[in-house]
Amino acid sequence: MSEKITLNNRTTTDGKGFPEKAQLILGEKSMELPVVVGTENEPAVDISKLRAQTGYITLDDGYSNTGSCKSAITFIDGEKGVLRYRGVPIEELAEKSTFIETAMLLIFGGLPTQPHLAEFRRILTDNEFLHEDLRHHFEGFPPNAPPMAILSAMINAMGCFQQKWLLPEEDNHFMEAAGRLMSKVRTIAAASYKKSIGQPWIYPRYDLPYVANFLHMMFSQPYRPYEPDPAVVKALDQILILHADHEQNCSTSTVRMVGSSQANLYASVAAGVCALWGPLHGGANVAVIEMLEQIHASGEKVENVIAKVKDKDSKTRLMGFGHRVYKNFDPRAKILKAACDKVLNKLGIHDPLLDIAKQLEETALRDEYFVSRKLYPNVDFYSGIILRAIGIPANMFTVIFSIGRIPGWIANWREVHADPEARIYRPRQVYVGPTQRPYVPMEQRNR
Ligand code: CMC
Repeated sequence: MSEKITLNNRTTTDGKGFPEKAQLILGEKSMELPVVVGTENEPAVDISKLRAQTGYITLDDGYSNTGSCKSAITFIDGEKGVLRYRGVPIEELAEKSTFIETAMLLIFGGLPTQPHLAEFRRILTDNEFLHEDLRHHFEGFPPNAPPMAILSAMINAMGCFQQKWLLPEEDNHFMEAAGRLMSKVRTIAAASYKKSIGQPWIYPRYDLPYVANFLHMMFSQPYRPYEPDPAVVKALDQILILHADHEQNCSTSTVRMVGSSQANLYASVAAGVCALWGPLHGGANVAVIEMLEQIHASGEKVENVIAKVKDKDSKTRLMGFGHRVYKNFDPRAKILKAACDKVLNKLGIHDPLLDIAKQLEETALRDEYFVSRKLYPNVDFYSGIILRAIGIPANMFTVIFSIGRIPGWIANWREVHADPEARIYRPRQVYVGPTQRPYVPMEQRNR
């Protein structure tokens, strides 16, 4: 029985040149599947009725060829190295915008007007404190608790103190809920750091904007205030902008998946934090620094490291390299590489890890293994070096990534919730386990 899928050659009426339908032939049966084309001309075959009509499902392990939703938030062209938030190129945002303005672009769909921005800033400022009872939750964690575990648990705990804002429906309500979450996550992040080093919580300062206030809560001490250098504030702001969204990555898909069950905003975002924690996702920025530190400490030659990561038996990867979507370059890495030089120069820091990173990049990009697999530095390759220069310890890197990603998660959660046709996310599977067999009583089991 031959089974093939073909795209017929009828063109769409809007002149984009895509067929209106795909024709699927499964043995004797054939069916037409609608073709959906996005605003950036990305064509997709809509298979949502496939099983009902043919009994077949599609199989795509790891979802590398599956569009899980239609989304109007972020566009990536992995071949061309393009990343845009609501249509605005990441390069322009990194140069001209601020994290708060970019967050509003993502969450509300457009760049804010002055009054809109002022109102959102007011919400952020008015909600930067945490309920005092949340201290007891912090006290329950051991001193070496991973900050990502604290962050996820505390977001859920915090939800219990703000139940009014868990399922925002109207626009004003949603703006308040989004601002509260963004503001308090920053305070939790700083408090989890203070907890991990045994220092007292530092209360936020009413007069400081978002990023400067975070640095104050991280680095001030009751008897020694920390005044952040504007270059440091700018560098961190840029890192947050570059991490603010990245379409259907693992953690954002998690937030959408959890949100699709109509779970509340806080629960969905807490799940996103857990997904981001993994070393193949947000945790890679820590793995990069550990790898660079290890190379520096051992004095190992860069060529040896590259040989090791190419050897499949070594089970080692070049951390900060490769991406599921970018097959040319990651535009975020390009911006951060330039920012790295700038910030370190401005702060008068010479970091030998930056030299090693540059050598690794040069060597890898000349190597057939990396070239043929289209493996380039990703956002995590240089971000850790900047964070180190700012004074942020490695165990906080993924927390910083989370602070940056909150707007993207909020925007995606909202998109799921605001869609009147949204259904619970429920993928299928191809079962490959044992076929039916009887229950064997304990005394008859071999082992
Ligand atoms: N070092 C060495 N080989 C690699 C690497 C790497 N970093 N990444 C991929 N490969 C090889 C892989 O072994 C495979 O080779 P082969 O075809 O011979 O089996 C081929 O390239 C394709 O790899 P894959 O695992 O199928 O690619 P993927 O799309 O499933 O994985 C990735 C993407 C980012 C998880 C992977 O490239 C990786 O593990 N990179 C290192 C971790 C990292 O930096 N993660 C941060 C991602 S960016 C931040 C974010 O958005 O979360």
